[in-house]
Amino acid sequence: MSLRINDIAPDFTAETTQGTIRFHDWIGDGWAILFSHPKDFTPVCTTELGYMAKIEPEFRRRNCKIIGLSVDPVDNHARWAKDIEETQGYLPAYPMIGDPNLEVAKLYNMLPAEEPGTSEGRTPANNATVRSVFVIGPDKRIKLMLTYPMTTGRNFDEILRVLDSMQLTAAHKVATPVNWKHGEDVIIAGSVSDDDAKTLFPQGWKAPKPYLRIVKQPG
Ligand code: BEZ
Repeated sequence: MSLRINDIAPDFTAETTQGTIRFHDWIGDGWAILFSHPKDFTPVCTTELGYMAKIEPEFRRRNCKIIGLSVDPVDNHARWAKDIEETQGYLPAYPMIGDPNLEVAKLYNMLPAEEPGTSEGRTPANNATVRSVFVIGPDKRIKLMLTYPMTTGRNFDEILRVLDSMQLTAAHKVATPVNWKHGEDVIIAGSVSDDDAKTLFPQGWKAPKPYLRIVKQPG
């Protein structure tokens, strides 16, 4: 069955470039991002994993660990990491899962629909994981899922932006509008009555419509 937002993220044991992990134990009490790429030693993936190495401190600042995955074995990941540092200027310090038996890839529906017909017939030789991102909360539930085509590199700044929104809305009864960025005005959650809003947001709000109540970002 396909995964849905708010499902418990499937737990697994896997080999990584930093040793064997049990996923939920590795996540611990914070947030986590599991992201897959199609194949080591390929160009778009090289730029993506280099960029994740560059902005990894931004995830750490948000109490969020990151972990990569592909169907390549971990010794390939380790060799490729040197190319990433050489060409992108940043050495991935985050772990990368080696999933040559497609166990995690199948658990997280990271395989494309086409060929070879049935999922049981898939092998690493004829399959590569798509570009997936899963953001997992401290409660181990899936908060965000994203799937990109093979030929399009992801915008990982967007993942940071969504993380800011999710962490804000987990702490305050607000939602964030289109293209919102940290520090900008937010929207009072629809579940909050005007009476309760007066207590929660004593500075008041702008309401161009009764259902659109805009306040300064709390916190
Ligand atoms: C790439 O990273 O450039 C790539 C990988 C797999 C398929 C297509 C492109």
